[in-house]
Amino acid sequence: MKCVDDFRLRFGKLELVPIIVGGMGVDISTTELALEAARLGGIGHISDAMVPTVTDRRYDTHYVKTKTKRYKHNVANSDKSEVMFDLGELDEAVQMYVGRTMEAKVGSGLVFVNVMEKLTMNAPRETLRVRLAGALDAGIDGITLSAGLHLGSFALMEDHPRFRDAKLGIIISSLRALQLFLRKNAKLKRLPDYIIVEGPLAGGHLGFGMDWAKFDLQPIVEEVYQYLKSEQLDIPLIAAGGIFTGGDAVAFLEAGVAAVQVATRFTATRECGLPPDVQQEYFKASERDIEVNTISPTGYPMRMLKNSPAIGDGIRPNCEAYGYLLDGAGHCAYITAYNLALGPHANAKKKAKHLSVMDKTCLCTHMRNFNCWTCGHYTYRLKDTTRRLDDGSYQVLSAEHVFRDYQFSTGQNILLPD
Ligand SMILES: Cc1cc2nc3c(=O)[nH]c(=O)nc-3n(C[C@H](O)[C@H](O)[C@H](O)COP(=O)(O)O)c2cc1C
Repeated sequence: MKCVDDFRLRFGKLELVPIIVGGMGVDISTTELALEAARLGGIGHISDAMVPTVTDRRYDTHYVKTKTKRYKHNVANSDKSEVMFDLGELDEAVQMYVGRTMEAKVGSGLVFVNVMEKLTMNAPRETLRVRLAGALDAGIDGITLSAGLHLGSFALMEDHPRFRDAKLGIIISSLRALQLFLRKNAKLKRLPDYIIVEGPLAGGHLGFGMDWAKFDLQPIVEEVYQYLKSEQLDIPLIAAGGIFTGGDAVAFLEAGVAAVQVATRFTATRECGLPPDVQQEYFKASERDIEVNTISPTGYPMRMLKNSPAIGDGIRPNCEAYGYLLDGAGHCAYITAYNLALGPHANAKKKAKHLSVMDKTCLCTHMRNFNCWTCGHYTYRLKDTTRRLDDGSYQVLSAEHVFRDYQFSTGQNILLPD
């Protein structure tokens, strides 16, 4: 019986273990997690979501404080159009975060950064350009474009000296999205270096509607695979979403994909950024504790634990501090939902404190504080990947343990920790 280690992901002469740890913002797929995947010969992702906040926490910078101070006068105003990111500060934060990660990299693998287009940051093109260029300047091995069609993202990097040397890939959930991307970028004469097909069982935002359950990863992968073959496009195809065991991965590799991208199993590791008490919530979850809902202001459905503190919370919009989802005209769907809920309490500050907003959530604040417990569909199986300790809690694993289990286990076997 074959295991993942019988396969290799090839980029030209470079050979990698075909396991990619997916990007998990905000700082859930940490530097430490990405570095472990690279050390073990695979690919790890950091995420550039809310990077100034992340560097504040990790490297003692003060970007959030500075921005909040700059726009303090606007806090009670629901028009956020003037709340902008300072592009110089953003560049500095991205370069610090990516640069320090890359400096610490050892081993034969690679570290990529996950860049979500939906983080429009009140100036979509300008901020995205800075994020992409900053990551390339700081020496990132590759960039995975996600959460959006990214029709213009390659053009934003076109003049960068590393545009043709860094690995650039895209996450899609349908052949149509890929065809659109390829058509829009044809004139740049620069194909993606890899294509990740993410199915409906993934964590985070989904590239499907609320009818996600009607879709299945395998046929989408097959359709994209046949399309690439018919167009004679030799681009490594990567499958993601619900690949829980080495055996699941082998089934995709045998069908012709070049690698698998996995994430949920790594939320149960020490290197993951989720706080230990939140990790225990993931372990404890049963299938009925997980839902796909529409509370993300991005408009994409998102999968999460039903007991996430973010659900129903009515905190005042925090755009002066964060504002990552402002659309370029100062709007975010949470502000609208908040104002609607505030309606009758508009002048009663005390009541507003206990406001419940069910429709949308202040995703920036809650992702920053690890209160939106986004997760993959198979999170309810995490408890089967470890041991229960005497105090009733579940043993958190090492990223190396999970990586090696994917790499060497066969069939549906899962190696339990010692
Ligand atoms: C906790 C969590 C957070 C995630 N955050 C992001 C993200 O910020 N951006 C993104 O493109 N994908 C995100 N994903 C998706 C993963 O990168 C990955 O493609 C997918 O979850 C793989 O499926 P699996 O979790 O079933 O292994 C997230 C997944 C999880 C579990």
